[in-house]
Amino acid sequence: MPPVTPPDHPTRDAGFGLYLHWPFCAAKCPYCDFNSHVRHGGVDQPRFLAAFEKEIAHAAALAPGRTVTSIFLGGGTPSLMAPETVAGLLDAVAGAWSIASDAEVTLEANPTSVEAGRFRGYRAAGVNRVSLGVQALNDPDLKRLGRLHSVEEALAAVRVAATHFERFSFDLIYARPEQTPQAWGQELREAIAHAAEHLSLYQLTIEPGTPFFGLAQTGRLVPPDDDVARALYDVTQEICSGAGLPAYEISNHAKPGAESRHNQLYWRYGEYAGIGPGAHGRLVWPEGRTGTLTEKAPEAWLARVERDGHGIVETEALSAEDQGDEFLMMGLRLAEGIDPARYAALKGRPLDAGRLAALVADGLVAQRDGRIAVTPRGAPVLNAVVAELAA
Ligand SMILES: C[S@@+](CC[C@H](N)C(=O)[O-])C[C@H]1O[C@@H](n2cnc3c(N)ncnc32)[C@H](O)[C@@H]1O
Ligand code: SF4
Repeated sequence: MPPVTPPDHPTRDAGFGLYLHWPFCAAKCPYCDFNSHVRHGGVDQPRFLAAFEKEIAHAAALAPGRTVTSIFLGGGTPSLMAPETVAGLLDAVAGAWSIASDAEVTLEANPTSVEAGRFRGYRAAGVNRVSLGVQALNDPDLKRLGRLHSVEEALAAVRVAATHFERFSFDLIYARPEQTPQAWGQELREAIAHAAEHLSLYQLTIEPGTPFFGLAQTGRLVPPDDDVARALYDVTQEICSGAGLPAYEISNHAKPGAESRHNQLYWRYGEYAGIGPGAHGRLVWPEGRTGTLTEKAPEAWLARVERDGHGIVETEALSAEDQGDEFLMMGLRLAEGIDPARYAALKGRPLDAGRLAALVADGLVAQRDGRIAVTPRGAPVLNAVVAELAA
């Protein structure tokens, strides 16, 4: 494996981020395969907080001396945490590393009125950006998606977010069963009227093991076919670009400068620690880039952390091959694309000139200012483009 060379110095290039996973939800949505669990008996937040504090201290010992540039409280549903729990987490981070003065601190929230009631407390705890799971702007679809909020409640939560946070985003899921490009276009325009600087727009994925998967297999749920899905994607790009929210990543749209810095860090192949049940990390140790993964089941993670001081169950030294592939897979999601020199430094060899030229000739990839990016034509077939370039 080649040594970590200067172009791959991640804390200089892309920052150092922390991902903290809160694995609980009020109800499980039928399309979701995230590591999220419902605990009707309640969750012992002080006990989980104590475990997070331990794992944060452990991560700081693995990656000492960094300056934290972004923190992402993801889930599950982090907005089920009491503001005191969030404050405890952020205090633990501040005790473990220095934090950049302009660090982005995002919390994922479900837009119910109960959760919006906690936004002021989150702001006081140090959160400066929220990402709300609005998902749809029509009540029948919200119901079909198994959501616990109405459109009215979600929009009220968006307004509360706007009063407490200088930055907020919301998520919508499109390519829902029976959704037409016209209906989606109308919904998206309405969403943009309520949005600020950032929107995440995900095509519905039918994930194996979810109730939606079972329904799709038996024909009781019919996702849009490829042509309709493509038309929905095209409408999304057209409307968002026209509204000044171009895609900076396959599913993420922002005003220039308002991109999610934490997610950018993943896509730019930066360094981050993953803390909490089922969290992935990518740490750059003197001996090379290393992947970490923690125990997924919340109570088993808790028991491990209480016993060992951390919940890491897998530590993998990434080979040059792995790093080049990961870098390509993440970086080509971005409109800005990748620096081929950094690819060559990670992978140990440059991109294959012949394959690259063929993709450029097919109009799937473009070379601009020394960078390589997927074109709008290549974006819907991104996986195939990555596979071709990585070969
Ligand atoms: C961890 S969840 C978000 C936070 C919060 N629990 C919520 O649901 O509002 C992240 C986002 O992934 C998206 N998502 C989850 N499952 C999906 C699926 N099967 N297809 C497309 N998008 C999905 C949703 O938009 C969701 O808001
Ligand atoms: S979509 Fe969000 S609220 Fe629904 S189960 Fe997944 S993580 Fe929980």
